[in-house]
Amino acid sequence: MFFDHIEAAPADPILGLTDAFKNDPRADKINLGVGVYKNEQGQTAILDCVKKAEKLLLEKETTKSYLPITGMPEYGRFARELIFGKGHEYVDGGRAVSCHCPGGTGALRIGADFIRQQNVATTVWISDPTWANHYQIATSAGLKFERYPYYDRVSHSLAFDRMMETLSQAHEGDVVLLHGCCHNPTGIDPTPEQWEQIAVFLKEHKLLPFIDFAYQGIGHGIDEDALGVRTVAKHCPEMLVASSFSKNFGLYNERAGVLTVVSENTETAAKVISQLKISVRTAISNPPAHGEKIVTTILSDAQLRAQWEQELKGMRDRILEMRHLLVEKLSAAGAGDYSFFESQNGMFSFSGLDKDQVARLKEEFGIYIVGSGRICVAGINHSNIDRLVEALKAVKK
Ligand code: LMR
Repeated sequence: MFFDHIEAAPADPILGLTDAFKNDPRADKINLGVGVYKNEQGQTAILDCVKKAEKLLLEKETTKSYLPITGMPEYGRFARELIFGKGHEYVDGGRAVSCHCPGGTGALRIGADFIRQQNVATTVWISDPTWANHYQIATSAGLKFERYPYYDRVSHSLAFDRMMETLSQAHEGDVVLLHGCCHNPTGIDPTPEQWEQIAVFLKEHKLLPFIDFAYQGIGHGIDEDALGVRTVAKHCPEMLVASSFSKNFGLYNERAGVLTVVSENTETAAKVISQLKISVRTAISNPPAHGEKIVTTILSDAQLRAQWEQELKGMRDRILEMRHLLVEKLSAAGAGDYSFFESQNGMFSFSGLDKDQVARLKEEFGIYIVGSGRICVAGINHSNIDRLVEALKAVKK
């Protein structure tokens, strides 16, 4: 038979956890696996600004006809404005082109397809550790990948020297995948000085930056979180950026993402977008509309935009509060020094727990975290934090 040779694949290390969590009958189970924001009540609520935008759309929308292959131009423009900042030459100047892709993953995949199909490069350097999907996206697109060290497990900080030393083995023309902010899974980002060094290094070694920018605004602010990508843009004449509005707009299942490609001049940029259209057309034909219309409606209305920024700040502040409380409670419980949690950014804390300890958390306490030891801080609240502290203390013994 045609399919007899097919072997069962392992469950997805992140989304597979959500399935296991759902099947767990324990009432006090806690899901700190998938990177999804939950409020103090444990809900992934729809933002108020999104609800308002949807109401407007419901009244105003007159058609469900196809969008252009790359999405509506203003959607891409807003994405570029968020990435590079208001008034930056890449917003309107024509050197940066954008296309709507289904979520950050879609943008990474369309970008990887484009790199492979246009013979831009064959190898992409990916941080170790990274978001598990990065490796398989590269492979699925037909790219080879190499790993560069990123995290120092002893000092719980960026292994900057080892990272740069390894990257110096990259060949001219290779791609380097970087996390724009809130590195997934470690939560450790380069300092501004380190970003400068990285950007200059990429330029000097003629390496192409591809920035995964899935958490803008979740770490320290919309502009603050763009420091890395803007530093790279300052030095490198060409780059790719995969933006996602899943987290910062809470639009997880609307699959609203954008791939932005910066070229050296506008002539090349026009050719790039023409090829991107083929990449999109052959993969998904044209993008889903609802998510991008929500984002565009919010960002083009001063009041809705202000409300979005407030709600985004609310998410950010709650995560920071939980980070702080967790460190405090772990210390008070004598569970050890976890102060390094507070130097990590965004939704995730990299706990340093090993596979056995992660398994014990699940089996004995019904607490689900990713196998790498990544904890989704955005899922902690005042009602579940004490159980988490007790469980972390127990498994660390
Ligand atoms: C995560 O890392 O948990 C999120 O980005 C969700 C996903 O798709 O894996």
